[in-house]
Amino acid sequence: MGARLTIIAAVSADGFISRGTGVPWDLPRDRAHFRAATAGQWLLIGRRTYQEMLGWFQDHTPLVLTRDPSFTPPVGKAVSSIEDALAQAGSREVFVCGGSAAYTTALPHAQRLLITHVETALGAGVPFPAIDSPPWRLVAEQTHAADAENAHAMRFAEYQRAC
Ligand SMILES: NC(=O)c1ccc[n+]([C@@H]2O[C@H](COP(=O)([O-])OP(=O)(O)OC[C@H]3O[C@@H](n4cnc5c(N)ncnc54)[C@H](OP(=O)(O)O)[C@@H]3O)[C@@H](O)[C@H]2O)c1
Repeated sequence: MGARLTIIAAVSADGFISRGTGVPWDLPRDRAHFRAATAGQWLLIGRRTYQEMLGWFQDHTPLVLTRDPSFTPPVGKAVSSIEDALAQAGSREVFVCGGSAAYTTALPHAQRLLITHVETALGAGVPFPAIDSPPWRLVAEQTHAADAENAHAMRFAEYQRAC
């Protein structure tokens, strides 16, 4: 059996993951959700996001998507394509952690999406691809109101590929 790809992303109500660089919200609840889902896992990350996240990796194995054959990641391994990543991962589950280019490339190969729908509009920025139904079927969701630490309400949604 080949690798199972799970995409994990936080997406604004109008479909964006960022204003251009960095994370556009401060949501400790979503950070905890992301940490819990990805602890100890193999990750697939676009080279731009990888450079933003350097220093964060602990027990993770990051596969860094890049077209630059000379790029040597300080942590993890470089991969030149989604096929290369799947071959390296064998039968493991791999969590695709963005950014937009990595999500777009990985989406046709993914079996599962873990999406934090953040109840705020950014107006513009770096987009997440459309979650069409079919093929995606919502199988679980959990809603949290905004509170003193989390400025926006959010909904943790899990989608499975239905076809
Ligand atoms: N809200 C969220 O959940 C979330 C999560 C992650 C990231 N983000 C945000 O997303 C933004 C970055 O997204 P992005 O789309 O600009 O960059 P990205 O996907 O992180 O990285 C883009 C780079 O990946 C490589 N790449 C992309 N597609 C490839 C392919 N098909 N084959 C080989 N290499 C490929 C290229 O690297 P080379 O240039 O080295 O060739 C490209 O420049 C940041 O603002 C970040 O904060 C948000």
